Amino acid sequence: MATIKLRLNGPYLIEGDDVKVVDWNGAEYHADRRPIALCRCGGSTKKPFCDGTHSKVGFQAAEAAVPGSGDKPAT
Ligand code: FES
Repeated sequence: MATIKLRLNGPYLIEGDDVKVVDWNGAEYHADRRPIALCRCGGSTKKPFCDGTHSKVGFQAAEAAVPGSGDKPAT
């Protein structure tokens, strides 16, 4: 099972052993580290992975979930 965590003003962290990162063409990206950190700010020079740029540019994430979207956090 994989768990995706949203870091406050930071990347998406994907935890799990059986996780693949694949682009729209089906190309698979090798992730050296666990958890996998995917860029959420758009500023990384190593996309799709986070390189820490979010801190340098003062990235402010939107809300964790859109109110009223019908999605609820799992308990
Ligand atoms: S979220 Fe870290 S560089 Fe974009």
